[in-house]
Amino acid sequence: MHNIDAVSELHDYRLPPEQVPETIVETLSIRQRDALKTRIKDLLKQQNAALVAHYYTDADLQLLADETGGCVSDSLDMAHFGHRSDAETLVVCGVRFMGETAKILNPEKRVLMPDLDAECSLDLGCPIDEFSRLCDQHPHRTVVVYANTSAAVKARADWMVTSGSAIDVVNHLKHNGEKIIWAPDKYLGDYIQKNTGADMLIWQGACVVHEEFKGIELELLRQQYPHAMVLVHPESPASVIEQADLVSSTTGIIKAVRQLDAKQFIVATDNGIFHKLQESAPDKMFIEAPTAGKSATCKSCAHCPWMAMNSLTKLANTLATGSNEIFVDPDIMERAKLPVKRLLDFSNRGNQIAGDA
Ligand code: 13P
Ligand code: SF4
Repeated sequence: MHNIDAVSELHDYRLPPEQVPETIVETLSIRQRDALKTRIKDLLKQQNAALVAHYYTDADLQLLADETGGCVSDSLDMAHFGHRSDAETLVVCGVRFMGETAKILNPEKRVLMPDLDAECSLDLGCPIDEFSRLCDQHPHRTVVVYANTSAAVKARADWMVTSGSAIDVVNHLKHNGEKIIWAPDKYLGDYIQKNTGADMLIWQGACVVHEEFKGIELELLRQQYPHAMVLVHPESPASVIEQADLVSSTTGIIKAVRQLDAKQFIVATDNGIFHKLQESAPDKMFIEAPTAGKSATCKSCAHCPWMAMNSLTKLANTLATGSNEIFVDPDIMERAKLPVKRLLDFSNRGNQIAGDA
């Protein structure tokens, strides 16, 4: 059950639009792209480096990661990858918390990112001092944080979870009689709470990309495509989640389009995922869930401005110069490892991870 009194003591931690950068996608000629890709492949070999890319990054980065033995995945599997790889350097194409998680789990490796300004509105909307104060006020609650948080916030937590693992972990904690502080995504928090019935005190942050999906316009789009199935990432508002045939992590969504019989899918998540969707099911049709229409306020319309900061040019530059290395304070790193490892051990023990089953 929601603890209403406790929830109302929380502020709105959504990022104001003026703090959200424009989504700028690099434009290159085919010749420039090919030249950069060849250079990046050479540099990866020279530096014994592996690319770890999220599904929301540019298709060229995903192709490069696949072609060079790196990894293209969701945030849980990106965290696992460092252990599987013997590369000395991991180049994380994603957002800052993904680079930090890679470093926390692989402190002996060099971790680089194409752009250290690639943030995340959830991470930015959960400042450690204020979060720590909330935890201090509720010392008997188990602190569960989403992967999309800073290393310092993770260091204050008992568990880290991803969208693909949150329900299973919270069910496990509820079963043990634990009450929870959840941060930072309020939509994901509400979704988990509804599905588990756990007692959760929910931080009021949001993803600027998923929050833009509109329930009313989605209803209209479904009338246009009555046979389409609706696939939704759980960072979306409840009005969108309510209309979903499947609510899942990015990996869960990609698996579903292969497994489900439908030929058309309306997809409510960052449109960077369309590259993998089309690759996975080339004979099927994918339609972006609406962010525009009468109720539109859209700035980062279905594409994360921070994910878009990962470009071929910046990647080549990072590899050539060794710039943009991720460093995490050693004490924070040591403490943050506990909640991250707890999740990896939980998933390795064969606990079912929703969407990834
Ligand atoms: P996944 O863990 O599902 O890849 O989600 C990460 C993310 O940032 C979604 O916006
Ligand atoms: Fe963060 Fe949203 Fe971007 Fe994912 S899509 S990295 S949650 S801002």
